[in-house]
Amino acid sequence: MNRVIGVMDSGVGGLTVVKEMLRQLPNERIVYIGDSARCPYGSRPREEIVSFTMEMMRFLLTFEPKALVVACNTATAAALEVVRSVSPVPVLGVIDPGARAAIRETRGKRIGVIGTVQTIRSGAYETAIRRTRDDLEIVSFPTPELVPLVEMGWPKAAARPVLETVLEPVRSAEVETLVLGCTHYPMIADWIQEVVGPDVALINSATETAAELATLLTEMGLLASMSVGFREDDAKEAFPDLRLFTTGDAASFRAVAERWLKRPLAVEAVDLRAFAR
Ligand code: DGL
Repeated sequence: MNRVIGVMDSGVGGLTVVKEMLRQLPNERIVYIGDSARCPYGSRPREEIVSFTMEMMRFLLTFEPKALVVACNTATAAALEVVRSVSPVPVLGVIDPGARAAIRETRGKRIGVIGTVQTIRSGAYETAIRRTRDDLEIVSFPTPELVPLVEMGWPKAAARPVLETVLEPVRSAEVETLVLGCTHYPMIADWIQEVVGPDVALINSATETAAELATLLTEMGLLASMSVGFREDDAKEAFPDLRLFTTGDAASFRAVAERWLKRPLAVEAVDLRAFAR
């Protein structure tokens, strides 16, 4: 079944999930939309996040995908249920997979969560973790300042003082495990690790989300098969394995995407206003 998988985020952050999808599901084709023009979502009112996420969904549905991935914690917390209730195809979010990864890999009893204002305010990680483990202490910190660093591809030297300031409360909380509850953060995981120290286990949703997607596609008989030939050179031209769209500046999106995915990429511009209701 060689229909595409649609992936959405407020910007480049969902590419951290895409990277894992390309690794775990190398035969699949992905269409990605990053709403960089309106990023960050994380400090916006919930209703606005829901309506922007619905616009991304409507855009992705024009590609007749077989599944959708909301590769954004903020949009997952605010809009996953709404998107699921109207989407004709299965929709995965990143918070349940992230919570599962945190439970599996946690060291000690105290888990820290960093994310956008809306993700932290929603308490979605606490709810998801407590569903399985009610003996863990969960301390959450809004760190929205880290999103623009990633979105704009700040160099490490400029980012470092921001990281030091923003992550100080996390350091003081002495957590053993820290959930990167925003899909932008894995792109600067090494820098975060340096600031919080080597003894803190960093958790992100990407590996688990891609694994859940693989299971879902397998169970539903929707996995792309090699035999159909999408990986053959001629087919690749017509059906690239990854199509990237942004509402923002295509050149800066491309620079971040190429650095992260380590390959040349084309980025197409899209205006989501046509998908508003
Ligand atoms: N990538 C989004 C997330 O995972 C956050 C970025 C934003 O604030 O738009 O929460």
